[in-house]
Amino acid sequence: MEKIKVLLVEDDLVDQMAFKRLVKEEKLPYDYKIAGSASAAIKILQEEKFDIVITDYNLGDGTAFDIFDYIIDTPFIFITGGGDEELAVKALKAGAFHYQIKDQLRNYLKVLPSTIEKALKHKKTENEKKKAQEELRQNKERLDIILHSIGDGVIVINEKQEIMIINKKAQELLGFDGELTISDNLHKALRNCRENGKVLIDAINQNEFSKLELEVDFPLPRVLSVTGTTFLDVDGKSAGKVFILRDVTKEKEIDRMKTDFVSSVSHELRTPLTSILGFSTTILKRRDIPEKTKYEFIEIIQKESKRLSRLIEDVLSISKIESGKITYDFRRISLKSIIEDVYEIYGPQAEKKKLKMILDVEENVPEIIGDRDALHQVVVNFVGNAIKFTPEGGTVTLGLRQENESVVLMIKDTGMGIPEKDQARIFDKFYRVYRPGTQIQGTGLGLSIVKEIIEKHKGRIELFSKVGKGTTFNIFFPKDADLGEEEQSKTELSN
Ligand SMILES: Nc1ncnc2c1ncn2[C@@H]1O[C@H](COP(=O)(O)OP(=O)(O)OP(=O)(O)O)[C@@H](O)[C@H]1O
Ligand SMILES: [Mg+2]
Repeated sequence: MEKIKVLLVEDDLVDQMAFKRLVKEEKLPYDYKIAGSASAAIKILQEEKFDIVITDYNLGDGTAFDIFDYIIDTPFIFITGGGDEELAVKALKAGAFHYQIKDQLRNYLKVLPSTIEKALKHKKTENEKKKAQEELRQNKERLDIILHSIGDGVIVINEKQEIMIINKKAQELLGFDGELTISDNLHKALRNCRENGKVLIDAINQNEFSKLELEVDFPLPRVLSVTGTTFLDVDGKSAGKVFILRDVTKEKEIDRMKTDFVSSVSHELRTPLTSILGFSTTILKRRDIPEKTKYEFIEIIQKESKRLSRLIEDVLSISKIESGKITYDFRRISLKSIIEDVYEIYGPQAEKKKLKMILDVEENVPEIIGDRDALHQVVVNFVGNAIKFTPEGGTVTLGLRQENESVVLMIKDTGMGIPEKDQARIFDKFYRVYRPGTQIQGTGLGLSIVKEIIEKHKGRIELFSKVGKGTTFNIFFPKDADLGEEEQSKTELSN
């Protein structure tokens, strides 16, 4: 057995002798040292660690209180002469495990071994307790870190529907900014939900629960998917529930948009198809139509076919971009020539709608690195929108200028403008501004294609718009586009 390391601090030689004799006679398993003064004790304590320290009050060059500060993390026993109980109390306050009163016959020594044993046992339990507490604290800390770093909301409630655990994400998803605390009722947590979260409460009360959707109305409308499980206590009885909350607003929205898209595309397809079918049938059936009318019909058929083909192109572009199958042919190109091309094509269309179309191109604007067809598509989309959303008599300006390290393409109109709340979303797929009463056609794909292409060119879009006043899009392209090594080398090859 390992010996117990004891330090006896005692200036009285007789007492020292008595202690030594006791250890010897009782064959105590002590590996002891004796310090005969306070200073000697301090010196030893600074160098060595003991399992226990026994110290007399009077130490010649000082008192036991002088050495207390040096007994770190070691239990100590305070020994004092009779009548010094006050000192004893003070010593206990200073952390002594026990005190013993000296008596003439030195009987106190007889109980010393058992006191030492008790002190060590006590220390051991203390240590274990401390360790357990530390482990508990660490576990809690770990749990906290996990809870607060996962992307899902987590809520744990007890049988009384009081919150036991709630993480930051759950607070956020339920429309709180950390106001919910432990022991708040679940009802409070569901305050911002539609019908105060009735779906969830009902499900809990009927104990029919696995997964459901919870709609939050405040501060922003969103849809949460909630998964729940019951957890049991040690006796196997239900002790509460754990809920995982996930924000599925986007997914829901995409589902809705997909449905909208399908109906929108089929509508868009049907309209031109109906007129193509109608006019061609008429031409074929009625041989007597005047040449001029026939020509007009054929023109309509052509226009509608173009519309159809553009729609199909858009849908294909989107799916090509999405699947990453699109490859760009980057070369050094001039945006000026693209703008002029588009101006040529769309000028007559603008004129037909009684719109003024202006070219505002600066001299000597540098070239950029880009894919000609893709950028052509970009300009066409912007210009098409500008014409489409500007009523008769308005103006559409197509501009190009240099600004610091960028080449800026500008498409400006004096049209109906885009409400502020829609501005962030018009680049989303299928998104169209709700304009009741107007009959403007479109599928809401144009700008989403444009955005993808501009991003691939490391460009940036700036939008200014005021309802009823007009809209300006500025697209910044890097002058010396650094498009990555692979694309750069392709550019060099093709030069
Ligand atoms: N110049 C503009 N003025 C006013 N609103 C605009 C303008 N450009 C875009 N918008 C709004 O942004 C929405 C999205 O534009 P986008 O080009 O993606 O779709 P679209 O023109 O409706 O359909 P598509 O381009 O697929 O035929 C439009 O429906 C329109 O409401
Ligand atoms: Mg468009």
